[in-house]
Amino acid sequence: MTDAIFPVSDEWAKNALIDDATYLEKYQRSIDDPDGFWREEAQRIDWIEPFHTVKDTSYDKDDFHITWFEGGTLNIAANALDRHLAKRGDQIAIIWEPDDPSEEGRTLTYRELHAEVCRFANVLKANRVNKGDRVTIYLPMVPEAAIAMLACARIGAVHSVVFAGFSPDALAGRIEDCQSNIVLTADEGLRGGKPIPLKANVDAACEKVSVDTVIVLKRTGADVPVIAGRDVDWAEAMAASSEDCPPEVMDAEDPLFILYTSGSTGKPKGVLHTTGGYAVWTSMTQEYVFDYQPKADGSMPVYWCAADVGWVTGHSYVVYAPLFNGATQVMFEGVPNYPDHSRFWNVIDKHQVEIFYAAPTALRALMREGDEYVTKTSRKSLRLLGSVGEPINPEAWDWYHRVVGERRCPIVDTWWQTETGAAMITPMPGATALKPGSATRPMFGVKPAILDPEKGTVLEGATQGALVITDSWPGQMRTVYGDHERFFDTYFSQYPGYYFTGDGCRRDEDNYYWITGRIDDVINVSGHRMGTAEVESALVAHELVSEAAVVGMPHDIKGQGIYAYVTTNAGVEDSEELRAELVKWVRKEIGPIATPDVLQFAPGLPKTRSGKIMRRILRKIAENDTSNLGDISTLADPGVVDDLVANRGS
Ligand code: PRX
Repeated sequence: MTDAIFPVSDEWAKNALIDDATYLEKYQRSIDDPDGFWREEAQRIDWIEPFHTVKDTSYDKDDFHITWFEGGTLNIAANALDRHLAKRGDQIAIIWEPDDPSEEGRTLTYRELHAEVCRFANVLKANRVNKGDRVTIYLPMVPEAAIAMLACARIGAVHSVVFAGFSPDALAGRIEDCQSNIVLTADEGLRGGKPIPLKANVDAACEKVSVDTVIVLKRTGADVPVIAGRDVDWAEAMAASSEDCPPEVMDAEDPLFILYTSGSTGKPKGVLHTTGGYAVWTSMTQEYVFDYQPKADGSMPVYWCAADVGWVTGHSYVVYAPLFNGATQVMFEGVPNYPDHSRFWNVIDKHQVEIFYAAPTALRALMREGDEYVTKTSRKSLRLLGSVGEPINPEAWDWYHRVVGERRCPIVDTWWQTETGAAMITPMPGATALKPGSATRPMFGVKPAILDPEKGTVLEGATQGALVITDSWPGQMRTVYGDHERFFDTYFSQYPGYYFTGDGCRRDEDNYYWITGRIDDVINVSGHRMGTAEVESALVAHELVSEAAVVGMPHDIKGQGIYAYVTTNAGVEDSEELRAELVKWVRKEIGPIATPDVLQFAPGLPKTRSGKIMRRILRKIAENDTSNLGDISTLADPGVVDDLVANRGS
């Protein structure tokens, strides 16, 4: 299966924006003449003042800087909305599909979306939000999430979207880290028919950090307490607000947003993206990866990226890039298995979706339920499928291709990261012969290399090692908010002169790239990144826990699951009750996505004599690969390993 090759169909090769020859030619040019290449690509964006310098970047420690399109000024919201009004004012920008299919959805034309964004931008201003201020957004997948993000961009405020599944503690940490004075939320969210107490979570977070203003959208109409002087009703504020809001002139390198992501140390990092490079980069990749161009009749194909705006995919491929490119897109509030396992495919039929982009974890969960949920729907509108967030195993790829796409839809398996802003290694449907499980070839302007993980030397040809990127690209993150040193240390210090992705990668004899997964202390649970250190610090914050070590384990649906080894304090009785309590505790501290799948009580952890936990051994036990644990002679107490193996959890 992994050797299978799916060539580009004649139809795609003929009609796509990029065929194979164009890909090769354009890629080479992007590497040989980055200035010329990006100068041209940047014309897809409307600049107020043109830039004078395309690229000025260095990964050297002494001269570390990343600047793109210097001298240029622009406004992101004007690029997403205003410039489309003349031609596309009445075209639908967003088709909103609610959690419950019996509830009526909404559509917003470009003109309507523009008006809402301007109005909400004025609401922000009325609540003392200025250029450069950080605005925390904790909203469900409703159009107001996109409206809020674009309103921030319109006035030059920096949004920090926190996924609505995060706990009050996680929310408070993020509010505090970026010193945000305002939170935008809803009374409740709805997912799979279940209410999520968003406002209550914000109130709980605000017991730890204080904010001046909370703007509350009514989503379910639940009765939520109003804190006088702090809480503002969304609809009332909108009703009192004008539609006239000129876009702020922003420098290319002014911050656009912060998005927190997990790393290998305890505290999530505030990944900061800026304005000009991000706009060019996301717009370009959306166009080429999804072959996003007008149809023969001039209308735009219906595009649906099923990611939540709480993650980077939702930023780049729901809110920003599709709107830059004048798309008509579906925005989905719900989950794949509600009211039943046909939901995705029903939504595709209902809105005649042509391009669909989702995460392997959802596909694996649906695949398990049997083909009938798929085959009883039409899906005739579908032309292209996408995958993102984690490696797609060949079985899931085959099912997606054969059952969902009826073999006629190519699959673009896009590898990228919160840090990279948009797709870095990815097929293009008219250009790339596909190999199931491979993200295939680099995007224009991306120079991947594979290094020997230990020596840091470049490995040529067909090989495997640590994936790095050798030069900057326009949508690269610019800093860790408030900690520039951490930015350098995390990504540029391990292999000097390179951006280190944290991923392992294989390159085959056709120069195709195969991402093998994280090689740092990050695990990928259902396409979401979780730092092992983050879960560990949540566990040791419990009063009965003295030590914890967390590793990834293979998981059929989630890709990776969370395996936690916990040592309790002396005298504490390990029990099923305590196990359940600790699992609940982690959910409360971080959120349901951090729920340990296995929690094993460990009287001792395997440590070297200098006290370092040997994670390699813990990983092997979690993977149930205990026949060859490698050399354990350097352990301070090799005996602990037998105990761990004997009491392995499942
Ligand atoms: O390990 C890679 C995996 O997801 C990580 C990035 O996670 P995050 O910043 O949350 O962004 C996810 C959405 C872009 C990467 O370091 N990853 C992402 N896409 C793929 C992938 N692994 C394999 N194949 C992919 N297509």
